[in-house]
Amino acid sequence: MVPGAVSPKDKLKLVTEKISSLPTLPKVISEITSLMQNPRTSAEEVGRAITMDQSLASKVLRLVNSAFYGFPGRVNTITHAIVILGFNTVKNIVLTASVFDKLGGKGQCGTFDLEKFWLHSIATGVIAKEIAKKVNFRSSEESFLAGLLHDIGKVILFKFLNEEFVQVQQQLEKEPSLFIDAEIKSIGITHNEIGSWLATKWNLPDDLSSAILYHHTPVLATKHRTMVYAVHAADILARSLCIGAPGDKKIPVFSSDVWDDLKFSRQLIDKIYRDIEYELEKSAIFFQIM
Ligand SMILES: [Fe+2]
Ligand SMILES: [Fe+2]
Repeated sequence: MVPGAVSPKDKLKLVTEKISSLPTLPKVISEITSLMQNPRTSAEEVGRAITMDQSLASKVLRLVNSAFYGFPGRVNTITHAIVILGFNTVKNIVLTASVFDKLGGKGQCGTFDLEKFWLHSIATGVIAKEIAKKVNFRSSEESFLAGLLHDIGKVILFKFLNEEFVQVQQQLEKEPSLFIDAEIKSIGITHNEIGSWLATKWNLPDDLSSAILYHHTPVLATKHRTMVYAVHAADILARSLCIGAPGDKKIPVFSSDVWDDLKFSRQLIDKIYRDIEYELEKSAIFFQIM
């Protein structure tokens, strides 16, 4: 490193210290997590914890009853949802609802459009889940969440670090490139680093944090590789289908390690494209709860 230069870690600290009003995840997420660690916890107890936050609980029920999740029968209470879907699924849905509640919405800065950004993120989640299913990876629900959150650092830049966000936009205008390359050139810190910092702050599971940090450099991941690889591939497939807009116009190079490891082929990609079509139609519900 050049003497006197700021290390990437210090840069992250400098940048994130500027965020004074970072949204926190509702207390209910950490409550459910600790309740779930106790094998004697009942569905009623968890249901009560979630229902304490009425607005969140109603969003969770809208998701549970949506075509996207497609659970049979009408679910009227959170407790009922837990009984039929299990703690883990409900926790993932609560997390999804909270993210849209805290960081969803509309907005624009330069060529960046928040609604189109979320469409890219939802598509990445849907494709990551489909890839997980195709390779028999058991965490397919978590893969959806990892895809949904992979670029969350861009939202943090957009909503809370406007000065830095504008610098990235100016760099992209000057020289069209991947968002991450523009970040490195203009502000010296990337959305992956900011996103994984947020994931740690929010106490999100380690696999989600790894997928956020390594989706552009999958071979650097030392753990949770399948999740990281699925998200890396899903981001690229969502971009090549032009679903939504991630904030740049280039498509990253598909890592050959990921291609080989997940046993990708042209036929598999075509099958994924076919199988996600209906899933994407059903994902309109997310825009209704934002
Ligand atoms: Fe990214
Ligand atoms: Fe992306």
